[in-house]
This record gives sequence, C-alpha cells and structure tokens, in this order.
Amino acid sequence: MNSLSSRIEVIKADITSLEVDAIVNAANSSLLGGGGVDGAIHKIAGPDLLAECKTLNGCAIGQAKITKGYKLPAKFVIHTVGPIYQENNKNQEQELRNCYLNSLIIAKEKKLATIAFSAISTGVYGYPVKEAAVIAVREVIIFLSDHKFPAKVFFCSFSEDHYNIYQELLNKWKSSLTEYPTSFNLE
Ligand code: APR
Repeated sequence: MNSLSSRIEVIKADITSLEVDAIVNAANSSLLGGGGVDGAIHKIAGPDLLAECKTLNGCAIGQAKITKGYKLPAKFVIHTVGPIYQENNKNQEQELRNCYLNSLIIAKEKKLATIAFSAISTGVYGYPVKEAAVIAVREVIIFLSDHKFPAKVFFCSFSEDHYNIYQELLNKWKSSLTEYPTSFNLE
C-alpha cells in the first residue's frame, strides 16, 4: 500500500467524539458558534471555546484559525469558514479549496499528527456534497504529497451517504495510484 494512501481515511462518526490532534469546524465568519457541526463542537467543548473564539475577531471565507479543544477529546479545533453555495459563483471552488489548504497549513505548522475534517459547506451552506468532496480529497492528496505533517487526515462523515461518496472517491484514487500520486482524475 502506498504510504500516501494510508495517510488518508474516511470515517463515519460524530466529529466531536474523535480523539485526534485537531478537528476542523465548519464555522461562520463571526466564529461565535451556530448550528450544525459548529453547534455540536461548541456544545461539547464548553464555554471556554467561545471565550477564545471571541478573541479571534472572526474569520474570512477560506481562512482558518486554531483554538484549543477544551472539553473535546481533540486537542485543538481548527475553525474554517466555507463559501455559501450559489449557482455560477466562480469563486466558491477556490474558497472551499482554501478552507482545506489553510487548515492543513496550520496543522503542518503545529506539526499535528492527526486531523479530522468535517464536510465544510455541505450542510447549511448548501454545497453539493460530491463536488465538495472532490475538492476536499484533491486538496488533501496534493498537500500530503508534499508534506509529512499532518501525518494522517480523516474525512469525518456524519451520514452513510456522505461516507459512501468520500469512500468511492478515495477508492478511485487508490486504485489509480501510480508513481505520480497527484496525477489522478476523481471526476
Ligand atoms: N460531526 C460530523 N459532521 C457533522 C456533525 C457532527 N457532529 N454535525 C453536522 N455535520 C456535518 C453535516 O452533515 C454537513 O455534512 O457537517 C457538514 C457541514 O454542515 P454544517 O454544519 O451545516 O456547516 P456548513 O454547511 O459549512 O454551514 C456553516 O452552519 O452551523 C452553521 O455556524 C455554522 O453558520 C455556519 C454554517
């Protein structure tokens, strides 16, 4: 098994239960909490997470900021703000790509071993899951091809459907693995 392919895995879980170095939150630009995975993370982390978030002065779309995990089993939370999906919005693909890239850069800089992504923008923000998953998987593969940290990336799916979408993409990539791990077609 190619060492790169063993560094990427999809799991079906509640991200707040994962004992990893960092979980990636699908936040909004205020960083003051909300519903969905953001609400779940704040609920388990406790009020100290919000208190730290308040010191961060928000977060722009595509950017990422890190806080402690507090009462979560994860050591850290990386908060990133995905685009709100709109037909024919030409920037959103790059904005979503930036969410994954900037979260991975933080993980690299902090030398985190394990990081778990929620499916950014695919809930309230309406991004079609398959399109978002192709962007996410591609970004992670390319980044891990060049960096040894994070050592392992989990895509954390909250539903069976999402899990199957990610698993299909990863299987497609792993079965096409050549000596050029970034020359792949996930479409
Ligand atoms: N664990 C893992 N994944 C989860 C969890 C959970 N506990 N809860 C929800 N999800 C999944 C959803 O199924 C979806 O696929 O996270 C993905 C992202 O959905 P949202 O949480 O709605 O995030 P997003 O679409 O990026 O919208 C962000 O929603 O909650 C608010 O404050 C948030 O305003 C922001 C907006």
